[in-house]
Amino acid sequence: MHKLKPESITAQALGWIDEQTRAITPPIHVSSTYLRDTDNQYRTGRAYARADNPAFDQAEAVIAALEHGPHAALFASGMAAATAVFQALAPGDHVLAPKVMYWSLRNWLMNFATHWGLQVELVDMDQPAAVQAAMRPGKTRLVWVETPANPLWTITDIAATARNAHAAGALLAVDSTVATPLLTRPIEHGADIVMHAATKYLNGHSDLIAGVLVTARDDDFWKRVKSIRTQLGGTLGSFEAWLLLRGLRTLHLRVQRASQSAQRIAEHFAPHPLVEAILYPGLPDSPGHAVAARQMQGGFGGMLSLRTKGGEAAAIATAAKVELWKRATSLGGTESLIEHRASVEGAGTPVPPDLLRLSVGIEDCDDLIADLEQALQQAHC
Ligand SMILES: Cc1ncc(COP(=O)(O)O)c(C=O)c1O
Repeated sequence: MHKLKPESITAQALGWIDEQTRAITPPIHVSSTYLRDTDNQYRTGRAYARADNPAFDQAEAVIAALEHGPHAALFASGMAAATAVFQALAPGDHVLAPKVMYWSLRNWLMNFATHWGLQVELVDMDQPAAVQAAMRPGKTRLVWVETPANPLWTITDIAATARNAHAAGALLAVDSTVATPLLTRPIEHGADIVMHAATKYLNGHSDLIAGVLVTARDDDFWKRVKSIRTQLGGTLGSFEAWLLLRGLRTLHLRVQRASQSAQRIAEHFAPHPLVEAILYPGLPDSPGHAVAARQMQGGFGGMLSLRTKGGEAAAIATAAKVELWKRATSLGGTESLIEHRASVEGAGTPVPPDLLRLSVGIEDCDDLIADLEQALQQAHC
């Protein structure tokens, strides 16, 4: 068969069937342990479910196929997946991470990873010259990129950053949660590891916490990352893995719809008199647009931010007045979410106080625009 398009991979979850029953939906394997053979071997290759679990196989295969990598590994959360990559490094290693990134991982890097001896340096990751200048050849072991990056939706050129990282002997890891493998496949641009908070678009229904890593190669670094999952125990539950596989089947439809609606919402509110700015890489005058147009195919994703006129008070009041949008953190679900991001991130955040982060769901787009419109009007009267 010719190479399947992402829509065909996700809709049929790679077309696997359960050979024992001919079921087209897999069973949930819940066993925590496996029978040893009488000659003391484990012929199935499975011994204990902290190491691996048949419930992971299909979801990992679907995600690896979407990302064009040989292997994927599910984790108990996006944070468990991301931190496993850093934990695979050695004390004294130098790593570069973006100034604009998912705040919880930035906090972990600055407050925990540094205590273990990692030398963490935050850079303007969207500026290849700044990245190149910060690189310490032979010492920098990892460059971490998030693109589009929370919550300003800054775009980083993955191919240029991969060249910079590899020239200095470092690996490149990309948090591609917001782009999803439908819009960007970082391995094709030179990344060594791709990470997703599968909690978000991959599952898409706001009903589980999960993470996943995809590798470009089955090498020693990947083996170390996998052994960190086994030994530290950041293992996903069987039921969550099964739910994730179900969510993956509609990934293409959800991402397509969210991206189309986000583009319309961005274009509608960009010239709005009550709006200071819309941050969205799909807008032609956005700073990352040219790179995003090269690196993202089929849309610019479902995440954007709206900066209100009238500062923080107007932003919080707007979020208070929505009726259809849900005031909640997280992203990538079927329902649209609105969040005053600076309130979440607290002191020291680089997020402007007038910024509302919008996760666009799959509702009718006119309804979403009308609700935001009335909320802005009420907040400003
Ligand atoms: C871009 C990004 N990366 C990583 C994470 C962490 O994922 P989780 O909440 O599943 O640990 C999040 C969660 O919001 C995220 O938005």
